[in-house]
Amino acid sequence: MLGPVILAASRSDRMRRLISAAPVTKRVVDRFIPGETVDDIVPVIEDLTGKGLELTMDVVGEDITTPGQATIARDAYLELIDRIKDLELGPRVEMSVKLSMFGQALEHGHELALAHVRPVVEAAASIGTTVTLDAEDHTTLDSMFAIHEELRKDFPRTGCVIQAYLLRTEADARRLAADGSRVRIVKGAYKEPASVAYQTKHEIDRAYVRILKTLMEGEGYPMIGSHDPRIVSIAQELARRAGRKPDEYEFQMLYGIRSEEHLRLAAEGHRMRVYTAYGTDWYGYFMRRLAEKPANLRFFARSMVGK
Ligand code: FDA
Repeated sequence: MLGPVILAASRSDRMRRLISAAPVTKRVVDRFIPGETVDDIVPVIEDLTGKGLELTMDVVGEDITTPGQATIARDAYLELIDRIKDLELGPRVEMSVKLSMFGQALEHGHELALAHVRPVVEAAASIGTTVTLDAEDHTTLDSMFAIHEELRKDFPRTGCVIQAYLLRTEADARRLAADGSRVRIVKGAYKEPASVAYQTKHEIDRAYVRILKTLMEGEGYPMIGSHDPRIVSIAQELARRAGRKPDEYEFQMLYGIRSEEHLRLAAEGHRMRVYTAYGTDWYGYFMRRLAEKPANLRFFARSMVGK
């Protein structure tokens, strides 16, 4: 019951100001977002890749309000790519981007977002890696898929995310699986109405498995974004049945969530990619992590009252 309330708060400016300013918030935020600057995050990248993990990097931020902020977002990714080029990690460290951070919701937002994300994709390609377009709320997805298709003309390894809770996603998965895309499948983290999305965990989990089966049997590269142990074992079985080798799909989990499992899967020979977010505009990302698990909220609340 708490999840939808927290997700509503994630879009409230008043709550954003209140929570972002609370001095004790940082300790809890650090669990999910291990740095604010490139200087903070480069040692984290070195540490995690040194442990055999692969990464997808997210500069936190979304729902910008001026075109100038899209330029700032683009430059933040370009700075990161420039800083890691000498580490020569190639595809082991890719980028994840939210198009709303590149101006997608502004006037002429589709063109603005495409113009700002393209240089990031080009820079990523220049160091041998790729970009994946995150999925945000359902109203943004037609534009996201169109940008994905456009970018793939020059950079066919550009990936995108699909969300199992959306009723549209089974059809999207069939299309993307047939055209050989890199696709991350997740359950979905936004507050969506029943007119477009399944509402119960049972329905969402069942849809996830159906979609995963389509991706595994298709021509593309499935990226299994989930911490759910049941999904992880079903994915291994579906990969086996589809005759996929370990380098023909990958697991992805978020930094700070089930970290032992990241290492366990990597040690078993799976490709395991950790979605690692950093930056100062962490409010929306952090609130979605709270909404996913009520225990996080209790931990956060205890920190707020100093216990
Ligand atoms: P589920 O919610 O059923 O959780 C299974 C178990 O995982 C829980 O019992 C708990 O142990 C653990 N767990 C899950 N979330 C936790 C949390 N926040 N804190 C502590 N433990 C937690 N969504 C989206 O809409 N668009 C996107 O682009 C992305 N991108 C993305 C990338 C990657 C790599 C991942 C892993 C996830 C996303 N998501 C996302 C988020 C996704 O939609 C979903 O909200 C979370 O992954 C939680 O769902 P699970 O599949 O983990 O299952």
